[in-house]
Amino acid sequence: MQDNDSVRGSWSSRWVFILAATGSAVGLGNIWKFPYIVGENGGGAFVLVYLACIACVGVPILMAEVLLGRRGRQSPVHSVRDVALEAGRSSRWSMIGIGGAVAGFLIFAFYSVVAGWVLAYMFHAANGSFTGAGSDHISGLFEQLLADPQALTIWHTAFVVLVMAVVIRGVNKGLEQAIRILMPSLFVLLLLLLMYALTTGSFGKSLHFLFDSDFSKLSWDGVLTALGHAFFTLSLGMGAMMVYGSYMPKQSSIATTLITVAVLDTVVALVAGMAIFPIVFANQLDPGAGPGLMFVTLPVAFGNMAGGQVFGFLFFLMVAIAAWSSAISLLEPAVTWMVEQYEISRARACIWIGLVGWTLGLGALASFNVGSDWLVLGMNFFDLLDFVTANLLLPAGGFFIAILVGWRITPSISRDELHLTTVNGYMIWHFLLRYISPVAVLVIFIANLYSKFQG
Ligand code: PHE
Repeated sequence: MQDNDSVRGSWSSRWVFILAATGSAVGLGNIWKFPYIVGENGGGAFVLVYLACIACVGVPILMAEVLLGRRGRQSPVHSVRDVALEAGRSSRWSMIGIGGAVAGFLIFAFYSVVAGWVLAYMFHAANGSFTGAGSDHISGLFEQLLADPQALTIWHTAFVVLVMAVVIRGVNKGLEQAIRILMPSLFVLLLLLLMYALTTGSFGKSLHFLFDSDFSKLSWDGVLTALGHAFFTLSLGMGAMMVYGSYMPKQSSIATTLITVAVLDTVVALVAGMAIFPIVFANQLDPGAGPGLMFVTLPVAFGNMAGGQVFGFLFFLMVAIAAWSSAISLLEPAVTWMVEQYEISRARACIWIGLVGWTLGLGALASFNVGSDWLVLGMNFFDLLDFVTANLLLPAGGFFIAILVGWRITPSISRDELHLTTVNGYMIWHFLLRYISPVAVLVIFIANLYSKFQG
């Protein structure tokens, strides 16, 4: 297989790949989505299923996805096609890449709306709108924002422009410098919030909520949400990690690198949960409040801590950057594919893709105001995009990746790419990828459908 490193560029080191992949993985999924879905699904049992999905389904497929990208060295569509052909299989496997690019768009549409909320909150925090405010006032602010399509459009547009500005330059140029500073600072700010949470008096209660597993509170819907979120938070099943893998140096170890990424991602989500729930309980808020949870809790903390104006601003700035570095990877698969397929410039591909993503986003933001009664299957457009991508498209993408890499390509290819030094390491991975990951996805899908028909 030709090695076109020199034409496409690659990360300057393994460390930079870790940062980029972590930048993609750590985002709104960890800080915004994880706490609110834990709240909606009753706590500990959900967290346990989620952790099991990360370890047994997510990590093996993550390694498979990166392996495909590094082997193929192109956009996901063409990487999958070439690796399948190399193994003597059909080129139709490239459908994985096409489905992934579509999923990326759909996620981008609602993701950029939430990122827009974060931008708005950055300014609220800096202006001192939270200072001394009680939780009623804070909830009111959030409702006001949602009810204002014009403001939402401005913030959403600002975010789309920020993302496109990096994607146009090529991710491995624009991104490297930013993430070196971002990731460590985000972590420090989360620890600060955690310290505040310790002072609320509700820390113990929130630990029980997060870690006591009462399975009677968990439905099959909840299990599917946990599985879907494992994919969502690891940026898995849609080609983002594959495209980043395609820039990964040949000699780096896929296994240790990606286990590191998965651990970092999980730690950030758990810390976010441990920072948010004490504030929820201390202010008698509802843990099942839904997508607004982060926006009605954390400002209370900033409003009441010393230096909260500065920390609040910094925190939302960090979340904005985390969302930014994730959103970039949502569009990168589609952009690289368009450039290769239609031989157009990166800039032109970016403009098309940015426009489509932006337009879909308008539909998502209307779900909170003018379009709140456009319902499909009882969901507004925002919830529908979230449901279809995280709970259906990403697990399905991951399932086919597991089948392709686990069953259809020759082990010599995967052995050669993974170069796991211990025989056991390879065997464990191969076993999980062949038997556990795809079966878990199928079982959860089927159980879910079954329980829907029953109910
Ligand atoms: N992993 C990102 C997050 O948790 C979202 C994402 C999903 C990014 C899929 C890229 C691909 O916020």
